[in-house]
Amino acid sequence: MRVAVIGMGYVGLVTASCLAESGNDVTGMDIDEARVARLRQGEVPIYEPGLEELVKHNLREERLRFTTNLAEAIRQAEVIFICVGTPPLPDGQADLSSLWSVGDALAESVTSEQLLVIKSTVPVGTNRRLMRRLHERAGRALEVASNPEFLKEGAAVEDFMKPDRVVVGVHSERAARLLEQLHAPFLRAGQPFLVMSPESAEATKYVANALLATKISFINEMANLCELLGADINDVRRGIGYDKRIGFQFLHPGVGFGGSCFPKDLAALASLGRQHGQPLRIVEAVLEVNERQKRILLQKMRRHYGSLAGKVIAVWGLSFKPRTDDIREAPALVLLEELLAQGATLRVHDPAALPNVRRLYGDRLTYCDKPYSTLEGADGLAIVTEWPEFRNPDFAHMGRLMRQKVIFDGRNLYEPRVVLQYGFQYYAIGRLIPPGPTSS
Ligand SMILES: NC(=O)c1ccc[n+]([C@@H]2O[C@H](COP(=O)([O-])OP(=O)(O)OC[C@H]3O[C@@H](n4cnc5c(N)ncnc54)[C@H](O)[C@@H]3O)[C@@H](O)[C@H]2O)c1
Repeated sequence: MRVAVIGMGYVGLVTASCLAESGNDVTGMDIDEARVARLRQGEVPIYEPGLEELVKHNLREERLRFTTNLAEAIRQAEVIFICVGTPPLPDGQADLSSLWSVGDALAESVTSEQLLVIKSTVPVGTNRRLMRRLHERAGRALEVASNPEFLKEGAAVEDFMKPDRVVVGVHSERAARLLEQLHAPFLRAGQPFLVMSPESAEATKYVANALLATKISFINEMANLCELLGADINDVRRGIGYDKRIGFQFLHPGVGFGGSCFPKDLAALASLGRQHGQPLRIVEAVLEVNERQKRILLQKMRRHYGSLAGKVIAVWGLSFKPRTDDIREAPALVLLEELLAQGATLRVHDPAALPNVRRLYGDRLTYCDKPYSTLEGADGLAIVTEWPEFRNPDFAHMGRLMRQKVIFDGRNLYEPRVVLQYGFQYYAIGRLIPPGPTSS
Protein backbone atom coordinates (compact mmCIF):
# COMPACT_ATOMS: atom_id res chain seq x y z
CA MET A 1 0.00 0.00 0.00
CA ARG A 2 1.16 3.59 -0.53
CA VAL A 3 1.34 5.47 2.75
CA ALA A 4 2.27 8.98 3.89
CA VAL A 5 3.25 9.73 7.48
CA ILE A 6 3.20 13.37 8.63
CA GLY A 7 5.51 14.20 11.58
CA MET A 8 8.79 12.31 11.90
CA GLY A 9 9.10 12.24 15.71
CA TYR A 10 9.16 9.10 17.87
CA VAL A 11 5.76 7.88 16.72
CA GLY A 12 5.86 9.00 13.07
CA LEU A 13 9.33 7.67 12.35
CA VAL A 14 8.63 4.31 13.97
CA THR A 15 5.29 4.06 12.09
CA ALA A 16 6.88 4.95 8.75
CA SER A 17 9.82 2.55 9.18
CA CYS A 18 7.74 -0.40 10.38
CA LEU A 19 5.17 0.06 7.60
CA ALA A 20 8.00 0.21 5.04
CA GLU A 21 9.57 -2.90 6.56
CA SER A 22 6.33 -4.80 5.95
CA GLY A 23 6.47 -3.96 2.25
CA ASN A 24 4.52 -0.72 1.97
CA ASP A 25 5.73 2.25 -0.03
CA VAL A 26 6.12 5.02 2.57
CA THR A 27 6.87 8.73 2.45
CA GLY A 28 7.70 10.42 5.75
CA MET A 29 7.14 14.18 5.95
CA ASP A 30 8.25 16.75 8.53
CA ILE A 31 8.53 20.54 8.55
CA ASP A 32 11.91 20.28 10.31
CA GLU A 33 14.34 20.56 7.40
CA ALA A 34 17.41 19.56 9.40
CA ARG A 35 15.66 16.42 10.64
CA VAL A 36 14.57 15.44 7.12
CA ALA A 37 18.09 16.08 5.74
CA ARG A 38 19.57 13.75 8.36
CA LEU A 39 16.92 11.09 7.80
CA ARG A 40 17.65 11.10 4.06
CA GLN A 41 21.23 10.15 4.96
CA GLY A 42 19.94 7.31 7.14
CA GLU A 43 20.79 9.23 10.34
CA VAL A 44 18.13 8.77 13.01
CA PRO A 45 17.87 11.86 15.25
CA ILE A 46 16.49 9.92 18.22
CA TYR A 47 17.81 6.94 20.17
CA GLU A 48 15.47 3.99 19.79
CA PRO A 49 16.72 0.39 19.65
CA GLY A 50 16.50 -1.12 16.15
CA LEU A 51 15.16 2.04 14.49
CA GLU A 52 18.28 3.16 12.64
CA GLU A 53 18.71 -0.29 11.06
CA LEU A 54 15.10 -0.21 9.84
CA VAL A 55 15.45 3.28 8.38
CA LYS A 56 18.70 2.43 6.58
CA HIS A 57 17.38 -0.86 5.26
CA ASN A 58 14.19 0.62 3.84
CA LEU A 59 15.97 3.65 2.36
CA ARG A 60 18.25 1.21 0.52
CA GLU A 61 15.26 -0.84 -0.66
CA GLU A 62 13.61 2.42 -1.81
CA ARG A 63 10.45 1.68 0.16
CA LEU A 64 11.03 4.70 2.44
CA ARG A 65 11.74 8.31 1.55
CA PHE A 66 11.60 11.62 3.39
CA THR A 67 10.43 15.07 2.36
CA THR A 68 9.47 18.47 3.76
CA ASN A 69 6.86 18.90 1.03
CA LEU A 70 3.37 17.88 2.18
CA ALA A 71 1.74 17.87 -1.26
CA GLU A 72 4.51 15.65 -2.59
CA ALA A 73 4.27 13.32 0.43
CA ILE A 74 0.56 12.64 0.00
CA ARG A 75 0.29 12.72 -3.82
CA GLN A 76 0.11 8.94 -4.30
CA ALA A 77 -0.88 7.91 -0.76
CA GLU A 78 -3.92 5.75 -0.06
CA VAL A 79 -3.57 6.25 3.70
CA ILE A 80 -2.16 9.37 5.41
CA PHE A 81 -1.12 9.12 9.07
CA ILE A 82 -0.89 12.32 11.12
CA CYS A 83 1.71 11.92 13.89
CA VAL A 84 2.51 15.52 14.86
CA GLY A 85 3.08 16.50 18.49
CA THR A 86 0.20 17.55 20.77
CA PRO A 87 2.09 19.17 23.68
CA PRO A 88 0.34 20.60 26.74
CA LEU A 89 -0.80 24.23 26.96
CA PRO A 90 -0.24 25.99 30.31
CA ASP A 91 -3.75 24.99 31.50
CA GLY A 92 -3.16 21.29 30.66
CA GLN A 93 -5.23 21.22 27.46
CA ALA A 94 -3.60 19.61 24.42
CA ASP A 95 -2.14 22.12 21.97
CA LEU A 96 -3.62 21.07 18.63
CA SER A 97 -2.08 23.86 16.54
CA SER A 98 0.22 21.49 14.60
CA LEU A 99 -2.70 19.17 13.88
CA TRP A 100 -4.89 22.02 12.57
CA SER A 101 -2.06 23.36 10.48
CA VAL A 102 -1.52 19.94 8.86
CA GLY A 103 -5.30 19.59 8.41
CA ASP A 104 -5.60 22.99 6.71
CA ALA A 105 -2.70 22.24 4.39
CA LEU A 106 -4.18 18.82 3.56
CA ALA A 107 -7.58 20.35 2.73
CA GLU A 108 -6.04 21.86 -0.40
CA SER A 109 -5.00 18.62 -2.00
CA VAL A 110 -6.44 15.55 -0.27
CA THR A 111 -9.02 13.54 -2.27
CA SER A 112 -12.08 11.61 -1.07
CA GLU A 113 -10.33 8.33 -1.95
CA GLN A 114 -7.55 9.00 0.55
CA LEU A 115 -8.00 7.99 4.18
CA LEU A 116 -6.68 10.37 6.83
CA VAL A 117 -5.73 8.76 10.14
CA ILE A 118 -4.90 10.62 13.36
CA LYS A 119 -2.25 8.71 15.31
CA SER A 120 -1.35 11.62 17.59
CA THR A 121 -2.98 11.51 21.02
CA VAL A 122 -5.85 13.98 20.80
CA PRO A 123 -8.80 14.97 23.00
CA VAL A 124 -12.00 13.03 22.46
CA GLY A 125 -13.95 14.66 19.62
CA THR A 126 -10.90 15.94 17.69
CA ASN A 127 -11.41 13.43 14.92
CA ARG A 128 -14.89 14.67 14.19
CA ARG A 129 -13.71 18.31 14.50
CA LEU A 130 -11.01 17.70 11.89
CA MET A 131 -13.54 16.07 9.56
CA ARG A 132 -15.86 19.05 9.88
CA ARG A 133 -13.01 21.50 9.35
CA LEU A 134 -11.83 19.65 6.24
CA HIS A 135 -15.37 19.55 4.87
CA GLU A 136 -15.72 23.32 5.33
CA ARG A 137 -12.38 24.08 3.72
CA ALA A 138 -12.23 21.43 1.00
CA GLY A 139 -15.94 21.58 0.16
CA ARG A 140 -16.19 17.78 0.04
CA ALA A 141 -16.64 14.94 2.50
CA LEU A 142 -13.38 13.39 3.69
CA GLU A 143 -13.02 10.57 6.19
CA VAL A 144 -10.74 10.86 9.19
CA ALA A 145 -10.04 7.73 11.25
CA SER A 146 -8.43 7.39 14.67
CA ASN A 147 -5.61 4.92 15.33
CA PRO A 148 -4.11 5.67 18.75
CA GLU A 149 -0.55 4.54 19.28
CA PHE A 150 0.42 2.51 22.35
CA LEU A 151 4.14 2.04 21.70
CA LYS A 152 6.59 2.53 24.56
CA GLU A 153 9.74 4.57 23.98
CA GLY A 154 12.74 2.31 24.42
CA ALA A 155 10.84 -0.62 22.88
CA ALA A 156 8.96 1.30 20.18
CA VAL A 157 9.90 -0.83 17.17
CA GLU A 158 9.16 -4.06 19.02
CA ASP A 159 5.83 -2.67 20.27
CA PHE A 160 4.81 -1.53 16.80
CA MET A 161 5.78 -4.84 15.20
CA LYS A 162 4.13 -6.94 17.93
CA PRO A 163 1.32 -4.87 19.44
CA ASP A 164 -0.90 -6.27 22.21
CA ARG A 165 -3.82 -4.98 20.14
CA VAL A 166 -4.60 -2.44 17.44
CA VAL A 167 -7.43 0.01 18.05
CA VAL A 168 -9.10 1.93 15.24
CA GLY A 169 -11.96 4.41 15.37
CA VAL A 170 -13.73 4.70 12.02
CA HIS A 171 -16.85 6.04 10.31
CA SER A 172 -16.96 3.45 7.52
CA GLU A 173 -16.39 -0.21 6.81
CA ARG A 174 -13.97 0.80 4.04
CA ALA A 175 -11.69 2.60 6.53
CA ALA A 176 -11.76 -0.39 8.90
CA ARG A 177 -10.79 -2.81 6.12
CA LEU A 178 -7.96 -0.57 4.81
CA LEU A 179 -6.46 -0.24 8.30
CA GLU A 180 -6.89 -3.94 9.00
CA GLN A 181 -5.02 -4.80 5.80
CA LEU A 182 -2.20 -2.42 6.73
CA HIS A 183 -1.87 -3.89 10.24
CA ALA A 184 -2.34 -7.56 9.29
CA PRO A 185 1.42 -8.33 9.14
CA PHE A 186 1.78 -7.21 12.77
CA LEU A 187 -1.19 -9.23 14.08
CA ARG A 188 -0.11 -12.67 12.91
CA ALA A 189 0.00 -14.06 16.45
CA GLY A 190 -3.75 -13.50 16.68
CA GLN A 191 -3.73 -10.19 18.57
CA PRO A 192 -7.08 -8.41 18.29
CA PHE A 193 -7.89 -5.67 15.77
CA LEU A 194 -10.50 -3.62 17.60
CA VAL A 195 -12.91 -1.47 15.58
CA MET A 196 -14.93 1.23 17.35
CA SER A 197 -16.10 4.82 16.97
CA PRO A 198 -13.43 7.55 16.72
CA GLU A 199 -14.54 8.94 20.10
CA SER A 200 -14.08 5.54 21.78
CA ALA A 201 -10.67 5.07 20.16
CA GLU A 202 -9.55 8.55 21.29
CA ALA A 203 -10.83 7.87 24.81
CA THR A 204 -9.12 4.45 24.91
CA LYS A 205 -5.69 6.05 24.64
CA TYR A 206 -6.31 8.48 27.52
CA VAL A 207 -7.97 5.91 29.75
CA ALA A 208 -5.10 3.44 29.20
CA ASN A 209 -2.46 6.03 30.12
CA ALA A 210 -4.46 7.28 33.10
CA LEU A 211 -4.79 3.76 34.51
CA LEU A 212 -1.08 2.96 34.01
CA ALA A 213 -0.02 6.22 35.64
CA THR A 214 -2.46 5.58 38.49
CA LYS A 215 -0.71 2.27 39.21
CA ILE A 216 2.62 4.09 39.43
CA SER A 217 1.46 6.84 41.78
CA PHE A 218 -0.47 4.29 43.86
CA ILE A 219 2.53 2.04 44.46
CA ASN A 220 4.75 5.07 45.13
CA GLU A 221 2.38 6.30 47.82
CA MET A 222 2.21 2.81 49.35
CA ALA A 223 6.03 2.54 49.27
CA ASN A 224 6.41 5.81 51.13
CA LEU A 225 3.95 4.62 53.75
CA CYS A 226 5.65 1.20 54.07
CA GLU A 227 8.87 2.99 54.87
CA LEU A 228 7.24 4.78 57.80
CA LEU A 229 5.55 1.60 59.02
CA GLY A 230 8.62 -0.62 58.88
CA ALA A 231 7.23 -2.75 56.04
CA ASP A 232 9.11 -3.59 52.83
CA ILE A 233 7.32 -2.64 49.60
CA ASN A 234 9.18 -5.38 47.75
CA ASP A 235 7.58 -8.02 49.94
CA VAL A 236 4.24 -6.27 49.66
CA ARG A 237 4.56 -6.26 45.84
CA ARG A 238 5.15 -9.99 45.90
CA GLY A 239 2.29 -10.41 48.31
CA ILE A 240 -0.19 -8.63 46.03
CA GLY A 241 1.23 -9.39 42.56
CA TYR A 242 0.38 -13.09 42.49
CA ASP A 243 -3.27 -12.12 42.76
CA LYS A 244 -4.28 -12.37 39.08
CA ARG A 245 -6.59 -9.39 39.44
CA ILE A 246 -3.59 -7.25 40.43
CA GLY A 247 -0.46 -8.57 38.70
CA PHE A 248 3.08 -7.18 38.87
CA GLN A 249 3.26 -4.80 35.94
CA PHE A 250 3.62 -1.07 36.55
CA LEU A 251 3.83 -1.60 40.28
CA HIS A 252 7.51 -0.72 40.68
CA PRO A 253 8.10 2.04 43.21
CA GLY A 254 10.42 4.81 42.06
CA VAL A 255 10.95 8.52 41.61
CA GLY A 256 7.77 9.10 39.63
CA PHE A 257 6.82 9.00 35.97
CA GLY A 258 7.90 11.42 33.25
CA GLY A 259 8.15 11.43 29.49
CA SER A 260 6.17 13.08 26.75
CA CYS A 261 2.98 11.07 27.30
CA PHE A 262 1.79 10.33 30.86
CA PRO A 263 2.14 13.85 32.32
CA LYS A 264 0.65 15.57 29.27
CA ASP A 265 -2.11 13.02 28.64
CA LEU A 266 -3.23 13.03 32.26
CA ALA A 267 -3.24 16.83 32.29
CA ALA A 268 -5.32 16.82 29.08
CA LEU A 269 -7.73 14.25 30.52
CA ALA A 270 -8.11 16.24 33.74
CA SER A 271 -8.80 19.31 31.63
CA LEU A 272 -11.45 17.39 29.62
CA GLY A 273 -13.11 16.39 32.89
CA ARG A 274 -13.19 20.00 34.11
CA GLN A 275 -14.56 21.24 30.77
CA HIS A 276 -17.41 18.76 31.07
CA GLY A 277 -18.20 19.63 34.67
CA GLN A 278 -16.84 16.36 36.00
CA PRO A 279 -13.49 16.94 37.71
CA LEU A 280 -11.41 13.74 37.63
CA ARG A 281 -10.28 13.55 41.22
CA ILE A 282 -8.21 10.38 40.84
CA VAL A 283 -6.35 11.70 37.79
CA GLU A 284 -5.64 15.02 39.54
CA ALA A 285 -4.33 13.14 42.59
CA VAL A 286 -2.11 10.90 40.44
CA LEU A 287 -0.43 14.01 39.00
CA GLU A 288 -0.06 15.62 42.42
CA VAL A 289 1.45 12.47 43.98
CA ASN A 290 3.83 12.23 41.04
CA GLU A 291 5.10 15.80 41.47
CA ARG A 292 5.84 15.02 45.12
CA GLN A 293 7.53 11.73 44.26
CA LYS A 294 9.98 13.44 41.91
CA ARG A 295 11.46 15.08 45.05
CA ILE A 296 11.72 11.91 47.14
CA LEU A 297 15.48 11.40 46.69
CA LEU A 298 16.09 15.04 47.50
CA GLN A 299 14.23 14.62 50.81
CA LYS A 300 16.37 11.60 51.69
CA MET A 301 19.54 13.48 50.79
CA ARG A 302 18.56 16.48 52.90
CA ARG A 303 17.89 14.17 55.82
CA HIS A 304 21.21 12.43 55.34
CA TYR A 305 23.54 15.40 54.74
CA GLY A 306 21.71 18.25 56.44
CA SER A 307 23.06 20.80 53.97
CA LEU A 308 23.79 19.87 50.37
CA ALA A 309 26.03 22.91 49.79
CA GLY A 310 29.44 21.80 48.54
CA LYS A 311 28.47 18.13 48.29
CA VAL A 312 29.50 16.27 45.13
CA ILE A 313 26.62 14.11 43.95
CA ALA A 314 26.94 11.55 41.14
CA VAL A 315 23.77 10.84 39.16
CA TRP A 316 23.22 7.67 37.10
CA GLY A 317 20.36 7.84 34.61
CA LEU A 318 18.79 11.02 33.26
CA SER A 319 16.35 9.91 30.55
CA PHE A 320 12.75 9.50 31.73
CA LYS A 321 13.10 5.72 31.29
CA PRO A 322 15.80 3.30 30.13
CA ARG A 323 16.65 2.71 26.45
CA THR A 324 15.66 6.19 25.30
CA ASP A 325 17.40 9.57 25.08
CA ASP A 326 14.12 11.36 25.76
CA ILE A 327 14.31 13.70 28.76
CA ARG A 328 10.92 15.38 28.39
CA GLU A 329 9.44 15.75 31.92
CA ALA A 330 12.14 13.39 33.24
CA PRO A 331 12.18 13.18 37.06
CA ALA A 332 15.99 13.55 36.87
CA LEU A 333 15.60 17.15 35.72
CA VAL A 334 13.72 18.10 38.89
CA LEU A 335 16.46 16.50 41.01
CA LEU A 336 19.27 18.22 39.07
CA GLU A 337 17.59 21.62 39.32
CA GLU A 338 16.98 21.35 43.07
CA LEU A 339 20.43 19.96 43.86
CA LEU A 340 22.07 22.79 41.90
CA ALA A 341 19.85 25.32 43.70
CA GLN A 342 21.06 23.93 47.02
CA GLY A 343 24.72 24.32 46.08
CA ALA A 344 25.66 20.72 45.22
CA THR A 345 28.16 19.90 42.48
CA LEU A 346 26.84 17.33 40.02
CA ARG A 347 28.62 14.62 38.02
CA VAL A 348 26.15 12.93 35.70
CA HIS A 349 26.00 9.89 33.44
CA ASP A 350 23.41 8.45 31.10
CA PRO A 351 24.02 5.88 28.34
CA ALA A 352 21.98 7.86 25.77
CA ALA A 353 20.63 11.18 27.06
CA LEU A 354 23.84 13.18 27.77
CA PRO A 355 23.64 15.25 24.53
CA ASN A 356 20.04 16.29 25.32
CA VAL A 357 20.91 17.13 28.94
CA ARG A 358 23.99 19.09 27.87
CA ARG A 359 21.80 21.22 25.58
CA LEU A 360 19.73 22.23 28.63
CA TYR A 361 22.39 22.55 31.32
CA GLY A 362 25.59 23.52 29.45
CA ASP A 363 28.54 23.80 31.86
CA ARG A 364 26.42 23.65 35.04
CA LEU A 365 27.08 19.88 35.22
CA THR A 366 30.09 17.58 34.77
CA TYR A 367 29.25 15.02 32.08
CA CYS A 368 30.82 11.57 32.41
CA ASP A 369 30.98 8.96 29.64
CA LYS A 370 31.15 5.99 31.98
CA PRO A 371 29.21 5.10 35.15
CA TYR A 372 32.33 4.52 37.25
CA SER A 373 34.12 7.76 36.33
CA THR A 374 30.99 9.61 37.48
CA LEU A 375 31.71 8.41 41.03
CA GLU A 376 35.19 9.91 41.40
CA GLY A 377 35.26 12.01 44.58
CA ALA A 378 31.47 11.81 45.02
CA ASP A 379 29.78 12.19 48.40
CA GLY A 380 26.86 10.13 47.18
CA LEU A 381 25.29 8.41 44.17
CA ALA A 382 21.69 9.03 43.10
CA ILE A 383 20.17 6.45 40.72
CA VAL A 384 17.26 7.92 38.81
CA THR A 385 16.76 5.74 35.70
CA GLU A 386 17.00 1.93 35.74
CA TRP A 387 19.28 1.36 32.73
CA PRO A 388 20.22 -2.37 32.68
CA GLU A 389 23.95 -1.62 33.03
CA PHE A 390 23.40 -0.15 36.52
CA ARG A 391 21.87 -3.35 37.89
CA ASN A 392 24.93 -5.34 38.83
CA PRO A 393 27.85 -2.99 39.43
CA ASP A 394 31.19 -3.67 41.14
CA PHE A 395 30.38 -2.25 44.58
CA ALA A 396 33.94 -2.64 45.87
CA HIS A 397 35.27 -0.57 42.94
CA MET A 398 32.52 2.00 43.45
CA GLY A 399 33.42 2.32 47.12
CA ARG A 400 37.07 3.00 46.27
CA LEU A 401 36.10 5.80 43.86
CA MET A 402 33.71 7.65 46.16
CA ARG A 403 34.57 10.07 48.95
CA GLN A 404 31.53 8.94 50.97
CA LYS A 405 29.89 5.56 50.35
CA VAL A 406 26.22 6.51 50.10
CA ILE A 407 23.68 5.35 47.52
CA PHE A 408 20.26 6.93 47.02
CA ASP A 409 18.55 4.36 44.83
CA GLY A 410 15.44 5.82 43.20
CA ARG A 411 14.64 2.55 41.38
CA ASN A 412 15.20 -0.12 44.04
CA LEU A 413 17.87 -1.82 41.92
CA TYR A 414 19.79 -3.52 44.70
CA GLU A 415 19.29 -5.94 47.53
CA PRO A 416 19.94 -3.83 50.64
CA ARG A 417 21.89 -6.61 52.40
CA VAL A 418 24.37 -6.83 49.52
CA VAL A 419 25.01 -3.09 49.35
CA LEU A 420 25.51 -2.88 53.12
CA GLN A 421 28.07 -5.70 53.01
CA TYR A 422 30.28 -3.38 50.97
CA GLY A 423 30.04 -0.70 53.64
CA PHE A 424 27.62 1.58 51.83
CA GLN A 425 24.85 3.54 53.42
CA TYR A 426 21.80 2.73 51.33
CA TYR A 427 18.54 4.55 50.78
CA ALA A 428 15.82 3.12 48.55
CA ILE A 429 12.07 3.61 47.99
CA GLY A 430 9.93 1.80 50.55
CA ARG A 431 12.53 -0.90 51.26
CA LEU A 432 13.28 -2.20 54.73
CA ILE A 433 16.98 -1.59 55.28
CA PRO A 434 18.53 -4.01 57.81
CA PRO A 435 20.59 -2.49 60.65
CA GLY A 436 23.93 -1.43 59.20
CA PRO A 437 25.74 1.82 58.67
CA THR A 438 22.32 3.51 58.25
CA SER A 439 18.72 2.88 57.31
CA SER A 440 16.28 4.82 55.13
N1 LIG B 1 6.39 9.37 22.18
C1 LIG B 1 5.60 8.36 22.53
O1 LIG B 1 6.00 7.41 23.20
C2 LIG B 1 4.15 8.36 22.12
C3 LIG B 1 3.41 7.17 22.27
C4 LIG B 1 2.09 7.17 21.88
C5 LIG B 1 1.51 8.32 21.37
N2 LIG B 1 2.23 9.46 21.25
C6 LIG B 1 1.58 10.64 20.68
O2 LIG B 1 1.98 10.79 19.30
C7 LIG B 1 2.11 12.17 18.96
C8 LIG B 1 3.52 12.45 18.47
O3 LIG B 1 4.42 12.21 19.56
P1 LIG B 1 6.00 12.16 19.34
O4 LIG B 1 6.59 11.78 20.63
O5 LIG B 1 6.28 11.39 18.11
O6 LIG B 1 6.26 13.72 19.06
P2 LIG B 1 7.60 14.41 18.62
O7 LIG B 1 7.60 15.76 19.22
O8 LIG B 1 8.77 13.49 18.83
O9 LIG B 1 7.43 14.56 17.03
C9 LIG B 1 6.51 15.39 16.41
C10 LIG B 1 7.05 15.72 15.00
O10 LIG B 1 6.05 16.43 14.28
C11 LIG B 1 6.70 17.42 13.50
N3 LIG B 1 5.73 18.45 13.11
C12 LIG B 1 5.19 19.44 13.87
N4 LIG B 1 4.36 20.18 13.12
C13 LIG B 1 4.36 19.64 11.89
C14 LIG B 1 3.68 19.97 10.68
N5 LIG B 1 2.85 21.00 10.61
N6 LIG B 1 3.93 19.20 9.58
C15 LIG B 1 4.77 18.14 9.66
N7 LIG B 1 5.45 17.80 10.77
C16 LIG B 1 5.23 18.54 11.87
C17 LIG B 1 7.81 17.93 14.40
O11 LIG B 1 8.82 18.61 13.66
C18 LIG B 1 8.30 16.63 15.03
O12 LIG B 1 9.35 16.04 14.30
C19 LIG B 1 1.71 12.94 20.23
O13 LIG B 1 0.36 13.26 20.16
C20 LIG B 1 1.98 11.94 21.34
O14 LIG B 1 1.18 12.18 22.46
C21 LIG B 1 3.54 9.49 21.59
